[in-house]
Amino acid sequence: MHDLLPGETEKWQSAEQILASVAKLYGYREIRPPVIEERALFERSIGTSSDIISKEIYCFQDRKGRNLALRPEGTASVVRAFVESELSHRKKITRLYYYGQMFRYDRPQKGRYRQFYQFGVELLGGTHPYFDGEVMEMLDAMLKKLNVPDHFFSINTLGCTECKNRYTEIIRDRLSGKRDSLCPDCNVRLETAPLRILDCKSSQCRETAKTAPGITEILCEECRSHFGQVQEYLLKAGIPFKVQPSLVRGLDYYTRTVFELYVKDDENAVAAGGRYDTLVKDLGGPDIPSVGFAIGMERLISLLEESTEKPPAPVYCIFMGREAQLKGIEIVSSLRNAGLMTVTDYEDRGLKGHLKEADRAGAKWCIILGELEMDKNEIVVKNMVTGQQQNVPVDDCVKRLKELVNA
Ligand code: HAM
Repeated sequence: MHDLLPGETEKWQSAEQILASVAKLYGYREIRPPVIEERALFERSIGTSSDIISKEIYCFQDRKGRNLALRPEGTASVVRAFVESELSHRKKITRLYYYGQMFRYDRPQKGRYRQFYQFGVELLGGTHPYFDGEVMEMLDAMLKKLNVPDHFFSINTLGCTECKNRYTEIIRDRLSGKRDSLCPDCNVRLETAPLRILDCKSSQCRETAKTAPGITEILCEECRSHFGQVQEYLLKAGIPFKVQPSLVRGLDYYTRTVFELYVKDDENAVAAGGRYDTLVKDLGGPDIPSVGFAIGMERLISLLEESTEKPPAPVYCIFMGREAQLKGIEIVSSLRNAGLMTVTDYEDRGLKGHLKEADRAGAKWCIILGELEMDKNEIVVKNMVTGQQQNVPVDDCVKRLKELVNA
């Protein structure tokens, strides 16, 4: 887990703003579910045999002995909130986006943290394959808007529940005679989650898995057509993609389309998602097929160019002596009310010390009010870059500074 400091936060804020603006352009509205949920919610949606639930979830009991968890992802919470609220009985299609911290006890390394941020979207209530395409197109638009070049989608289908179950049994059946060629983890997966063998880190496991048929060979007609139409949309929209038959994803709720977004040869996906046609129903809601994705913000931010924009320069106010400080309270307040970023320092540092601080704060303009100026009802306005200064009547100082700052 890490801190985000000033200097970084500006970059984050501008990315957050761009992501939200693109999501709004596609008709999405923000939802803010809580960070803590019942652990059972994640078990029922992500699956107890997944790495997230079996190894990575942060869970605890509250004072009443309830089993709770810090959310490891956003989809389950959004679906829970959807089911519990009136959103699920209103419209046919609901488009939601969310942003915030997720928690997974992952092995920390580049691009993998224990607290990380996701920007996610969920389109609840769309069955047509073009929705899958449009969701991916929106993600593509977000990366374009952020000037992230060379990104492409890896896509696959897991089929509907029937196809997925049939395929799971085929993999289990074909590979159970080859246990010796599978790593210890995959021997366990053979029982708990056979499809995860397809994307095991061990190349020997992946090679062994290739001896079984690919999912496209066993899909029902509807699933085949669905996947075909998703690709049709992507081709039409000019979205770069590759079909990756070993892409299975680590969360149980996916059905049919799954995808990951990569940039250049980075091995970590920047974003990932897919369709989850039964999750809303499984969590007690109506039968509403849905699709969505989440962007890993740390991974995204690491791809963004350093901003060349300088942080805004404050007007720095120096008030020397008690009388001037009292008058200063009014002046600083009117400068801020006029929309000028203003800082001041109440410590007694002497003029030199204050000017040094003003420099450190990056101020371009400085105002100085001392006893002498108080007597004349004037204020000194100093340009910190050129060193030039002018005296201005105190009552005109806000107007004058506005002109100078905005010149
Ligand atoms: P996910 O693949 O688990 O999917 O996570 C989505 C993205 O979050 C990843 O592609 C990655 O960029 C980022 N991410 C995941 N784990 C970490 C980590 N430990 N450190 C840093 N970044 C990480 C989901 O979470 C699904 N809820 C996505 C989704 C939404 N599917 C449908 N709707």
